[in-house]
Amino acid sequence: MFVNFIAILGRQPKISVAELEAFFDDVRLVNTNVAEINSAQRPEIKRLGGTLKIAEKLAVSPLEYLVDLPEGKITLGVSDYSKKSSARTAQSEALKLKKILARHGRSVRVLPNKEETLSTATSHHNQLGEKKNHEELIKIEKNWYRVYGVQNITAYAKRDQARPARDAKVGMLPPKLAQILINLCGDLPRNARILDAFCGTGVVLQEAILDGYSVYGTDLSERMIEYTERNLKWLASDKKDIKLETGDATNHNWTEKIDAVASEIYLGPPMSLVPVDIKLRSAKEECGSILRDFLKNLSKQIESDTPVVLAIPAWLRSNGEYSRLNILDDIDDLGYNVEKFKGVSQKDLLYHREGQVVAREIIVLRKK
Ligand SMILES: C[S@@+](CC[C@H](N)C(=O)[O-])C[C@H]1O[C@@H](n2cnc3c(N)ncnc32)[C@H](O)[C@@H]1O
Repeated sequence: MFVNFIAILGRQPKISVAELEAFFDDVRLVNTNVAEINSAQRPEIKRLGGTLKIAEKLAVSPLEYLVDLPEGKITLGVSDYSKKSSARTAQSEALKLKKILARHGRSVRVLPNKEETLSTATSHHNQLGEKKNHEELIKIEKNWYRVYGVQNITAYAKRDQARPARDAKVGMLPPKLAQILINLCGDLPRNARILDAFCGTGVVLQEAILDGYSVYGTDLSERMIEYTERNLKWLASDKKDIKLETGDATNHNWTEKIDAVASEIYLGPPMSLVPVDIKLRSAKEECGSILRDFLKNLSKQIESDTPVVLAIPAWLRSNGEYSRLNILDDIDDLGYNVEKFKGVSQKDLLYHREGQVVAREIIVLRKK
């Protein structure tokens, strides 16, 4: 039976939609940061890097749903994700429910909220949808949903900040984005082996292991391979199937069968200011030639249809636009097809904070 789910999306909603499309056929953006999913399979929050909250449609009214909860006090938050939402509606709906529930002998603690929606931090810290009688109801226009999963922001922050081997120059890939790259490879068998040919400090490999995959990490730098080893040991993953070795991605010979590739490639020199033309040109040439040679080398070593998902650099220009590598123009000659998404175009697949000079463009390829 198909059920109607709602995903509350992260900071870059279109990238989150692409991630959902990799798993579900029927995904539709209904609001800037809300996607509707029709699926027989229940989306799992811990598998989704780009989704903040996941909720299912209530089959009954919010009141009927809450009255039937198991005995005991109810903790309730209401978020209004309608197009024209207001903080007043959200809080007054919650208080209205509290009042009626009191008449049914149910005691309710309403989470105070000055905004239209509860923040992910509030929902997460109050274990809404996850602990008995701790509920967040979402209103979208006339429909009501109940949250059953909230992104574990504590665990992501720990995986990002508490790793023993970090390197500000290379290792700043957010774990959420690493997970998105892996998910964009699509549905893979559980024991699939994922290659990161630019593994750096191992963020992609770490997320792949947590998702249950075998991993293969290579990097030009011996120091980076040592960092990855330390970080993966810290993750207590010594029992998992891990292979690491130094190697130049442009000519390395990978000795294990590769089922999918997810990498953040070399992004060029770190930059905090918009680069002058000559600096931009040299960064583009350097990164572009590594990328091209890597794809050529890889295509000889993977089977047809193998997914290859890469984060590649794009640079901020003074007009606020990003200058991209344009690798997709010759992707056919390199032996790959570009994956298409229904509700997302290539220009949406640019991941960056406001004003960030080196952004990451995501490209999703399949070996021809
Ligand atoms: C942007 S970093 C990747 C960081 C990584 N996502 C992490 O979790 O730390 C790029 C990495 O590519 C490596 N690299 C640069 N040129 C390379 C090449 N030709 N072959 C393999 N690795 C290369 C660098 O040593 C660096 O670790």
